[in-house]
Formats: sequence, structure tokens, C-alpha cells
Amino acid sequence: MAGELTCSGCHARFPIHEGVPVLLPGDVDKVKTETAARFAEEWLHWSDLRDYYEQEFFAWLAPLTAADFAGQLVFEGGCGKGRHTALAASHGAKAVVSIDLGQSAIVAFAHTRHLPNAHVVIGDLMRPPVRPVFDLAFSVGVLHHLPDPAAGFASLASRVREGGRVAFWVYGQEGNEWITKYVDPVRTRLTSRLPAGFLRAACLVPSLFLWGVIKLFYRPRANGKGPARLPYGDYFASMYAYPFDEIHANVFDQLVTPVAYYLRGDEVRAWVAEGFRDAAVRSHRGYSWSGLATVRREAAASAR
Ligand SMILES: C[S@@+](CC[C@H](N)C(=O)[O-])C[C@H]1O[C@@H](n2cnc3c(N)ncnc32)[C@H](O)[C@@H]1O
Repeated sequence: MAGELTCSGCHARFPIHEGVPVLLPGDVDKVKTETAARFAEEWLHWSDLRDYYEQEFFAWLAPLTAADFAGQLVFEGGCGKGRHTALAASHGAKAVVSIDLGQSAIVAFAHTRHLPNAHVVIGDLMRPPVRPVFDLAFSVGVLHHLPDPAAGFASLASRVREGGRVAFWVYGQEGNEWITKYVDPVRTRLTSRLPAGFLRAACLVPSLFLWGVIKLFYRPRANGKGPARLPYGDYFASMYAYPFDEIHANVFDQLVTPVAYYLRGDEVRAWVAEGFRDAAVRSHRGYSWSGLATVRREAAASAR
């Protein structure tokens, strides 16, 4: 639970903090540590794991299913409170190594310490402290919070072995134009700087409004789809059964971070255009992008 790791080669020393190894290079820049510290305010407060996270996880990462994790060596970039770490581990991964830059990793450790195949580490996704040995790497809701999302994706994929796969979910620009226009200026100038307790309280009113709108107008149809004519039809319908505090957490999540990019489809497709095969990027519920690709490092290296 406490101690120190020492590198036998270079003699670098890394502390273990509350059971979590802190494998950080000395110089992580301020914007990244601030982003992670802001998210820790979310995950330390809304810290419990919920049943519906599983359905949400596989919807974000489809066509991956639980079977794709069985027996795999898995790397997760940006685990937050470890809700997906726990899922990957409990679906039979050989091992899951999950990193987060913030104190959220302590919550992730608490949720997964009973799972012998789950390993949580404090680390920077831009310089992951692991070797390129993984069968599968995934990152949900993280790359768009990095200073350079494309470089973040390349960094995630760089830890996958030849022939392994990388999966991700990121915010889309398409369908979210009003956020970039009206919400982003408020987030960057105001809400990302507010003390967490104050922001939580300030989010109550818009969260209550959104929760009411979802309950009134977004009941899913028999096929699970949302009302096609309303904005965010499928997305809000997917949240219809969520309790109020989940909506509250989602609104807080949107407003707490100093860095959030809303990415165009062509930008995201460019990430997997070279060095991969079987690459597919799809729109997820019309407001975000999900991608899956197989690493083809040897082909990329021989072409250079
Ligand atoms: C929106 S949360 C998503 C967490 C988790 N993937 C989930 O869906 O529950 C984004 C997470 O990325 C982490 N993060 C941000 N920058 C990071 C970096 N450079 N390296 C590792 N983690 C980072 C934050 O600390 C935060 O926990």
C-alpha cells in the first residue's frame, strides 16, 4: 500500500501512494495535471459503480463485446474511477493495466483491488509507463481532454503489439456545434475555474432541467432508439432510466474540465489512416466518434 519502486537499470525511484504506483516522469505539464485534478473532483464525489455502466461501455466500444476482453492483455488510457477497468477485468482479461494522471486512480484501485488481474497506476497517457505488449488498448472519454488528442491516440496505440487492437470513444464536433459556440466559452473562462463544491451546486439547476426534459420527451421506443426528431434523440433516450445524480454528474463532467476538444469525423479518421488495418470510425449516437483498428506497426516501419 505504501513504499517505493526502484528501477534496477536507471535507479529512478517511484513512490507507491495508497496502493497505486506513481509512474510519472518528473515534468508533466500544468494543463494536463490540472485537467486530471478537475476530473478527480468528479470521480471522488460520484465514486460508486453502477450496473448500467456495462451497457454504456459496450455501446461506446461496439463492435467490441465482452468476449473481446477474455484472455487479453489490456491497457486502458485514463481510467477515472475504474468503472471500465473493473468491467474489463471481470470479463476475463488476462490482465488490465489502467492509468490515470489524477487521484481518481485511488478510487479505481479501491474498486478493483479484489480483482487479481486489474492493475491501476498513476501515469501520463502522453508518456505511458508500459511497454508495447498489449493485445488491446482502449480509452473512453479521455483523448479529447488531452492537449493534443491525435498525439494522445498515437501514444495509446503505441503500447499495442503488432496485430493487437486499439479502441476509443471521443466527443464529436458534428452534432455539438452549440456546445462549441455557447458552452465552451463559459467552461473555459468560468466553470472550469470554479471550486468543485460550488460548481456541483451550480450544476443542480441545469441538471434538474435536463433530467425533466429527458423524462418528459425521451422515453425510448420499443427498439431502444430515441425520438428521431428531437436533438440528441438516441443519446438522451439512453439516459432515460438513469437516476438524477447520474445526470448531475454528466453536466458537471461537461463543465469541469479546462480542456475539451470536439473533433470532426475527418480528423478522427486521419488517426487510423496509416499504421493500421481493419480501421473503422463510426458516429456514436450522432454526437461522438467511436473507433476500432488493428495495429500494423511492421508494415508502417518497413514503409519508412
Ligand atoms: C472524462 S474522464 C473518463 C474516465 C473513464 N475513462 C470513464 O469513462 O469513466 C477523463 C479521465 O482522463 C484522465 N486524464 C486526463 N488527462 C490524462 C493524461 N494525460 N493521462 C492519463 N489520464 C488522463 C482524467 O484524470 C480523467 O479521469
